[in-house]
Amino acid sequence: MDTIYIRGGRRLEGEIPIHGAKNSALPLLAATLLARGVSEIHNCPHLSDVEASMSILRLLGCRVERQENTVTVDASVVCCDSIPDELMREMRSSIVFLGAVVARCGQANLTYPGGCELGPRPIDLHLAALRRLGVTVEEEYGHIRCRVERCLQGADITLAFPSVGATENVLLAACTAQGVTVLHNAAREPEIDDLCLFLNACGAKIRRLADGALHIVGVPRLHGAICRVMPDRIEAATYLAAAAVTGGAVTLRDCNRLHLAAILPVFEESGCHIEAASDAICIQAPTRLRRLGTIRTMPYPGFPTDAGAPLVAAACVAQGTSVFVEGIFENRYKYVDELARLGASVCVDGRVAVVEGVSALQAAPVTCTDLRGGAALVVAALAAHGETAITGLQHLDRGYDGLTDCLRKVGALVRRENG
Ligand code: EPZ
Repeated sequence: MDTIYIRGGRRLEGEIPIHGAKNSALPLLAATLLARGVSEIHNCPHLSDVEASMSILRLLGCRVERQENTVTVDASVVCCDSIPDELMREMRSSIVFLGAVVARCGQANLTYPGGCELGPRPIDLHLAALRRLGVTVEEEYGHIRCRVERCLQGADITLAFPSVGATENVLLAACTAQGVTVLHNAAREPEIDDLCLFLNACGAKIRRLADGALHIVGVPRLHGAICRVMPDRIEAATYLAAAAVTGGAVTLRDCNRLHLAAILPVFEESGCHIEAASDAICIQAPTRLRRLGTIRTMPYPGFPTDAGAPLVAAACVAQGTSVFVEGIFENRYKYVDELARLGASVCVDGRVAVVEGVSALQAAPVTCTDLRGGAALVVAALAAHGETAITGLQHLDRGYDGLTDCLRKVGALVRRENG
């Protein structure tokens, strides 16, 4: 069991390059399955979820190779339409393969992606949308069997909620369907636009309408293409929080400030000075943050749920009371009990967390309960007196490429030990 040790209280200073976004890389890898040929995904982060996606592609018959940050997928031959339970459970986002497998093979046999630490994560919207495209879906004992009788048929679909995963599945299934699909109330996250960009480079015909709907004209087949994964806006938000709690001065390189438009004002309100260029963001934090105010997480362009936890950690050492209202997931505050071990004062009632900033946190052994909760522990440990030991790193490894190296680069006293 690996452990990260962080000796807190060091002011972070310097530059951190931001990696490619996990939540863009995963659907992009699923999309390569549709391309009858070779695709290259550049700026692909080294993460366990990316490894799991590569394993799924190999199992389906693709040739997959990684050279440094580039993953090459040859999907000329796809010989399997089933994904076994172990791989489906390994990551929740394995469900995004459903639309791709069904479009490529005319059928798909998957199991439910499994329980989730953030509360129930149903896939009813994914399945309802696929049914509208002409997919027959049978669900039995955790298995999902999908068949297409003749071919996928374009349709007018409205999502009851702008689900990111359901939008991705519709895009993947609809780009080679017969006729036109219009997806109303589609998710507007930048990772969706990254996926559209790649699919269009493969020959798809997708465009975003003025009201945010996605308009997809089906084409007979897609070919391989090259793309570059967009910068990870949640990784960026996490390092901004890390700089903020240490009174630091950090420049994030290779990031997109437009994707952080809902996040940067929160840091400014709390007393940080932010300077943003098109691909870099500099943060200069005061000795102690002011309260973060009230933060409500919501679908893009609102404040992202994934950035909630690192900012809760920042609020723990800010002056005054901050309030977080979680608008996406039912159970996103599991990590709060671990923050309490460090001396944080957070009171949770359902989807609301009230954070009373304390003047100092104290090191303690803590365990990650989930990916972003783990990021919150890292941020809090950077602010705490003494050396915090963090376990449960399999969660952090899903979403933070080179975490300890990035922090060390800006002066954090951090090390990872095996055993
Ligand atoms: C994506 O998950 C991200 N994952 C999540 O990132 C992110 O938190 C989430 O979008 C919201 O931004 C990936 O991109 C791989 P949703 P996804 O479908 O697609 C409900 C991280 O930490 N819902 O938009 O699963 C659902 O229960 C992760 O990197 C249904 O009810 O999110 C949830 O409450 C965690 N029925 C809400 O919608 C459905 O069929 C949002 O889910 C689908 C979703």
